Amino acid sequence: MKTCIKNIREIVGILPQGVLRKQGAEMNETGTLQDAYLLIEDGRIAAFGGMQDMPADAEKYIDAEGGMVLPSFCDSHTHIVYAGSRDGEFLDKINGLSYEEIARRGGGILNSSDRLHETSEEELYRQSMERVNEMISKGTGAIEIKSGYGLRTEDELKMLRVIRRIKETCPALVKATFLGAHAVGRGYGHEEYVRLVCEEMIPAVAKEGLADFVDVFCDEGFFTVDDTDRILDAGAKHGLRPKIHANELEVSGGVQIGVKHHALSVDHLEKTTDAEIEALRGLDTMPTMLPGSSFFLGLPYGRAKDYINAGLGVALASDYNPGSSPSGDMRFVWAMGCIRMRLTPVQAFNAVTINSAYAMGISDEVGSITIGKRANLIVTRPLHSLTMIPYHYQTPWIHLRLLSGVPC
Ligand code: NIG
Ligand code: FE
Repeated sequence: MKTCIKNIREIVGILPQGVLRKQGAEMNETGTLQDAYLLIEDGRIAAFGGMQDMPADAEKYIDAEGGMVLPSFCDSHTHIVYAGSRDGEFLDKINGLSYEEIARRGGGILNSSDRLHETSEEELYRQSMERVNEMISKGTGAIEIKSGYGLRTEDELKMLRVIRRIKETCPALVKATFLGAHAVGRGYGHEEYVRLVCEEMIPAVAKEGLADFVDVFCDEGFFTVDDTDRILDAGAKHGLRPKIHANELEVSGGVQIGVKHHALSVDHLEKTTDAEIEALRGLDTMPTMLPGSSFFLGLPYGRAKDYINAGLGVALASDYNPGSSPSGDMRFVWAMGCIRMRLTPVQAFNAVTINSAYAMGISDEVGSITIGKRANLIVTRPLHSLTMIPYHYQTPWIHLRLLSGVPC
């Protein structure tokens, strides 16, 4: 089946095959083509070029009517499989409690863990798919989803089975991360729980092939560098590469331990010193920042510009979760990248597309306009510049979304 999008004012995000991420000055550029067509064949990008060369043999034509075509957003860090809501804690937060104080009172992640325990797999899938569908409607085409609200072996497996079912049934590309070490589960001592993660959970998860990556919340009040070292060792024995939570609440040493274990990404980084930037130089670990949690929790925004000036790449993701970032809107993430982190619209665009795809190991498949990649695309309303999207961040610019070439 051949589908052709015609009358595109500008294709944005063109990359040659084999380019898997952008770093340093490369972040300042994106490949574009004006007055263009784009041909999709069997769900993949088959060709693109000037309108004068548009093929005449497509079965279907979509008229972009002067809109732009971009790759769908890639969201490399989410916690969207959860049960119920934490709107009560939202009120506590408004009344002045911090994230740590809410957690210490037994709220936070443990609250979500209680809700998840009493919710069936079927119902958990239903609630999670509502979030997935909302994210897709806002232009996202690839999503990493973490476990971490189970905190007991059976409940962690329940979450990961839900993620597997989402993988099988939703049109977006999904990657699964095991985050048993998100908080110490109720009823366990700290050391007992770390052992449970290493000796029981990781082998059980690996046996069912339920996870692509392993994650640890390496931060003040949660898991130490030493815990993280042991958990990542256990993950490595089962072929799980780390993507870790580091430096959200404090400078935790999480970046350095992630680097030691060859992490694919180190995420959050709200609290970063020059030592963390230095530790990441020249590596294939992607620094990933989550402006949604900075916005919601009132934390500093990551030092994205400093990373780029040091020659590194940066990815941006939503962190969609019920406690620190209750939104999966990647357009808003893009806008915050510009407005609060002072990235240029193109830098932030690269951060929410190709670099976020890299941070979940799928940038050979999505994240840019490249021949052979999945046709995960956004067609905008008529638009004279890319800058308009993060600038008028509430205007509904998205006209049409295609995932594997199918409108959705
Ligand atoms: O990435 N920081 C740890 N985990 C999540 C929050 C999870 C929650 O509060 O439910 C985060 O911010
Ligand atoms: Fe997170």
